[in-house]
Amino acid sequence: MKRVDDFRLKFGNKEYVPIMVGGMGVDISTAELALEAARLGGIGHISDAMVNDVSDRRFDTTFVKDKTRQYKYNIDNADKSAVKFDLNVLAEATRRHVGSTMEAKKGDGLIFVNCMEKLTMNGPRETLQVRMASALDAGVDGITLSAGLHLGSFGLIAEHPRFRDAKLGIIVSSVRALQLFLRKNARLNRFPDFVVVEGPLAGGHLGFGMDWAQYDLATIVAEVVAYVQAEQLAIPVIAAGGIFTGSDAVSFLESGSAAVQVATRFTVANECGLPTHVKQDYFRASEADIEVNTISPTGYPMRMLKGSPAIGDGIRPGCESYGYLLDGSGNCAYITAYNRELALHPDGKNISVKDKTCLCTQMRNFKLWTCGHYTYRLKDTTLRNADGSYQTLSAEHIFMDYQFSLDHQIALPA
Ligand SMILES: Cc1cc2nc3c(=O)[nH]c(=O)nc-3n(C[C@H](O)[C@H](O)[C@H](O)COP(=O)(O)O)c2cc1C
Repeated sequence: MKRVDDFRLKFGNKEYVPIMVGGMGVDISTAELALEAARLGGIGHISDAMVNDVSDRRFDTTFVKDKTRQYKYNIDNADKSAVKFDLNVLAEATRRHVGSTMEAKKGDGLIFVNCMEKLTMNGPRETLQVRMASALDAGVDGITLSAGLHLGSFGLIAEHPRFRDAKLGIIVSSVRALQLFLRKNARLNRFPDFVVVEGPLAGGHLGFGMDWAQYDLATIVAEVVAYVQAEQLAIPVIAAGGIFTGSDAVSFLESGSAAVQVATRFTVANECGLPTHVKQDYFRASEADIEVNTISPTGYPMRMLKGSPAIGDGIRPGCESYGYLLDGSGNCAYITAYNRELALHPDGKNISVKDKTCLCTQMRNFKLWTCGHYTYRLKDTTLRNADGSYQTLSAEHIFMDYQFSLDHQIALPA
């Protein structure tokens, strides 16, 4: 019987523990969490979601306050097209977040940054370009492109001096998405260094429709592995979504995956950025407390706890401060939904928006509790305190449990 530690992920002539802790925005996969994965010889992710805000919280910058002041005049205006990001500020925030993480890195593992294409920031191309280039400038080991097809993303950094040495990968949920990506980028003569195949049981946004339950990770991974082999591409394939035990991981590693990407088990790590009381909600959740819904303005289904305070909330859109989901024309599906409700309640009171959520504000305030399908099993990974609360775990404990456990066992904390 094998365990994860019997396998290694190879990038060139370097080897890593084949465990990648996935990116979780907004600052849920903190630098501290990512650094632990890297210290233990695996790969950790930070996320650049709402990086200006992350910088303010971590480094006492005032980027969000400055933006709010600049666009205050527009707060009651339904047209948000004037609300733009200052690219110099975006670059500085990214360099601070990534740079400070890289400076703190110890051990043989790697730190990647998760870049979601759906963060269109009222200027999709230029903001994504600045985000990726600044992360490379700040020394990040790699970039994982997510939440989008990213057909043009490599092209945006093709002239960057680190374009060929940084590890660049993409998350897909089908072999077709990978084929499309490769076709669109063929002229750059640069393949991705890894492909994460994310199935329908993952946390965050899903790369499926509301028929997500009809898909199965093992089948999609097998298709991608077969395609990569048939094309002799030598791109490591990394399986993600619902891999809850070391033995789950082994079954993917034995059938052609080069590594696994995991996240849900780390949401209850001490190093995870969720507030303590939210971690307890994750622990307490039963299967019936979790749903996949369509309230994210990105258009992708998203999995979350039904008890998330964001659901049904009718907060005024916070685009003058945030605005990460404004498309290139200053629109966001939440603004449309909010204004529809505002027209029905012109006094602005008791507004409830059921069909969409103000994702930026709600994620920033930790009021939208996105989670993986197996969140309801987290209670089985720990012990209870005398007051009935659950013990959070060290990231090291969870990582090593994945690495060394056998026979679907989960080690409880000492
Ligand atoms: C709380 C949470 C937030 C997440 N946020 C993101 C994100 O911002 N970007 C992304 O690409 N994936 C995100 N994911 C997906 C994970 O990176 C990962 O691929 C997936 O959840 C792995 O499956 P598992 O959670 O069942 O282990 C998130 C997952 C969770 C649990």
